[in-house]
Formats: sequence, structure tokens, C-alpha cells
Amino acid sequence: MAQILDGKRVRDEILGELQPRIAALPRRPGLAVVLVGGDPASEVYVNTKVKTCASLGLVSQKIIRPESTTTAELLAILDELNADDSIDAILVQMPLPGHIDARQVLQAIDPEKDVDGFHPVNVGRLSIGLPGSRPCTPNGVMQLLRRSGIEVAGKRAVVVGRSDIVGKPMAMLLLHAHATVTICHSRTVDLAAECQRAEILVGAIGRPAFLTAEHIRPGAVVIDVGINRLTERSEVAAIWRNDPQSLAEFDEKGRMLVGDVHPLDVSALASAWTPVPGGVGPLTIAMLMSNTVEAAERHQGC
Ligand code: GUN
Repeated sequence: MAQILDGKRVRDEILGELQPRIAALPRRPGLAVVLVGGDPASEVYVNTKVKTCASLGLVSQKIIRPESTTTAELLAILDELNADDSIDAILVQMPLPGHIDARQVLQAIDPEKDVDGFHPVNVGRLSIGLPGSRPCTPNGVMQLLRRSGIEVAGKRAVVVGRSDIVGKPMAMLLLHAHATVTICHSRTVDLAAECQRAEILVGAIGRPAFLTAEHIRPGAVVIDVGINRLTERSEVAAIWRNDPQSLAEFDEKGRMLVGDVHPLDVSALASAWTPVPGGVGPLTIAMLMSNTVEAAERHQGC
């Protein structure tokens, strides 16, 4: 029977461990979350972040600006937040509108307040194994593996996706944990053959149910980072092969979430796997809270 890797259990464990550290701080940690534009998915993520802060006793400041915001205006906001002593941690929700220079924005965040680990200084620290903020989603995956008793050292790991937010840092963290790591992407010649070698397979491409039986080595540990929203009944019928229960769920809600890995194939083939929802998703927020507390401990001299 395959092991389901329960992200909610691990999230609760991590959040529980943060509580005494928060209580020991001279001042409540402050996280500023900056959202530009009205992307509905980003709004949901930001609201979840703010709610989780409140439940832990962290102070959050939500800064929402219209789609028309310029790079210069955003840089000015970051200057203020960098200088604000009550703010320990800053996050700019991605993706930013296309006209904004995202690289310049990420470089403008004080690396010590950069809870996403996206600043080049923190990317460099990750690369050579120095302490610093690690990107939340891949760091959450490492916590999930560790806290579920899954050995990484010596394993062949394949990461599908090479984004700066997930794929690249994921590969680096697995490498530091002594896996033999391959990164695959849209130009990989024989993706199925590369994935079949994976004892640990990570899907981070943002394409619904893209990784199927041909990609999954029997007995592999499969980590699904994708969160794709389906709004067409025909897509749900195709992916869940006309399963009446899945179609009834879609009919009730009018939408369905699916990861980058095929949900039926993974449950049939993997030794352990993360469901969507409830797998990796909850850990991103847990690691954001953890990075915020770490930033506060540094900033407040603990
Ligand atoms: N958009 C999707 N994932 C993330 C994340 O981890 N951090 C930020 N800032 N934006 C995101």
C-alpha cells in the first residue's frame, strides 16, 4: 500500500515548533506581503499567508497596489519596508505584472528580510551551502521528506521543471542532501526515460496531470508541486477516466484541483506520494512562517 505524504500533518508539526520561538522574541515578528495587480490565485495565496500569520501571533502588513503600479513605485515601497524596524520579513508575491522588472524588484529587498530566498545573495548562499532563507516550496518538500522518514542520500532524484522559484532551488537542496540530481525541462529529449530512473521524482512544471505512468518508476517517491485548477468537465473526465465520484465532486464545486502528476497513475505506482491538494501546498506556508521567524530572530538579535 502506497504511503500518502501528509503535508497538513507536517505543517502542523512545523507551526507547533515555531510557537515557543515566537513567544521568546522581544517583539512579535512582522511580515510585509506585497501584492501588485488582481490575479485571483495570488489573492487567495496572500490571504492564506495573512491568516496563518494571525493564527500564530505574527504581525502581517498587506500592501496591495493596482496593476498599473510602476517598477519605480514598487522599489520605493521596498525602500520603506527595508528601513522599517517593525518589519522583519518581506515577500513580493509572484508573478508580477509583465511591465514590472521583477529581477530589479527582487534585488531591492534587503537580503536579511528576503523570506522567499529569491534575492541573488540568498540564491548564492543556497548554492554554496551558507545559512540564509531558502525558497519556501522546495524547502517544504525537504521537510516533508525528512519528517516522513524518506532517505534522500544516494538516491537518484529527477526534478521536472527549472523555475527559479521551485525547480532550481529544489535540485540544489536535494543535491545538498546527497541525492544524484537531474533537472529536466521542455527541451529534455526523452523525458519518460529520464523520469523512469528517478527514485525520487519531483513534478514542478504547472501542467495538469502531465507526468503519467510512463514517467513513474514503480516504487518511486513522487512529489507533486503543481496546483492546477480545472474548470472544464471534459478535462476532469479525461484525467479521472470517467470516475463517477470525481465527476460528482466537480459538478458540485464547478472546479477541481490537480497536480502535475496523474493522480490515478501515481497512486497505482509510487511507494509514497503527495496528494493535491493537501501534499506540498500546506508546507509552502509553513516554511514562510519558519523563514519569517528566523528573519525576526536575526533582526531582533536572538
Ligand atoms: N508565487 C508562487 N509561489 C510563490 C512563492 O513561494 N513566493 C512568492 N513570493 N510568490 C510566489
